[in-house]
Amino acid sequence: MRGAFVTFEGCEGSGKSTQIRLLCQKLTEAGVDFVVTREPGGSDVAEQIRRIILDGKNVNMCDECEALLYAAARIQHLKEIVEPALAGGKLVICDRYVDSSLAYQGAARGLGEDYISDINSVALEKYPPDLTVFLNIPPDKAFERKHGADKGDRMEQQGLGFHRKVYAGYLALLDKYPRICAVECDGTKYETAEKIFALLKDKKII
Ligand code: TYD
Repeated sequence: MRGAFVTFEGCEGSGKSTQIRLLCQKLTEAGVDFVVTREPGGSDVAEQIRRIILDGKNVNMCDECEALLYAAARIQHLKEIVEPALAGGKLVICDRYVDSSLAYQGAARGLGEDYISDINSVALEKYPPDLTVFLNIPPDKAFERKHGADKGDRMEQQGLGFHRKVYAGYLALLDKYPRICAVECDGTKYETAEKIFALLKDKKII
């Protein structure tokens, strides 16, 4: 049987990495066969593309180039890592996916949903996630929690105004796609982890 594809989304500092780590611990304890991966990156070629995208020195990169590089890293990662794992019946947990492009490049950069959907048509049509976990915390709060942005990271260097647009972009996606479920991050990290585990059970992912 084909495996399930679960993606995680949220603003910088929303705690995705922590929550994915806690989920992996729970999945291991429960004996679930899973693969954990991330975007941009997750495979050798895609990690090379990631370095170009996030390099703080690439100040001249235009928005379209940025969006196309994310899409290029995505399709490589889908074919090399995600598709074989799903075909092998594994649960695939991916840190960010096409909704990041819709929120960051589509909404915040202003390239629009149609352009992002076009360049990511294979991802959207052939590999829609079974469930997308959106960690719901506004950027103002998230940045406060992580004590500001990473100066060497081209995306984190964008100001708070940019990240507010990203957040608004996510909220619009939440209204549009029933596969996206918001998890409120108002408790401890362990309480949030419990909510996520319960959500996966509720959606019959595990
Ligand atoms: P990363 O260090 O993995 O950030 P995070 O821990 O917040 O996930 O860097 C990924 C960055 O790339 C992050 O700023 C979000 C951005 N991004 C996009 O703008 N578009 C995309 O399609 C993806 C996958 C990520």
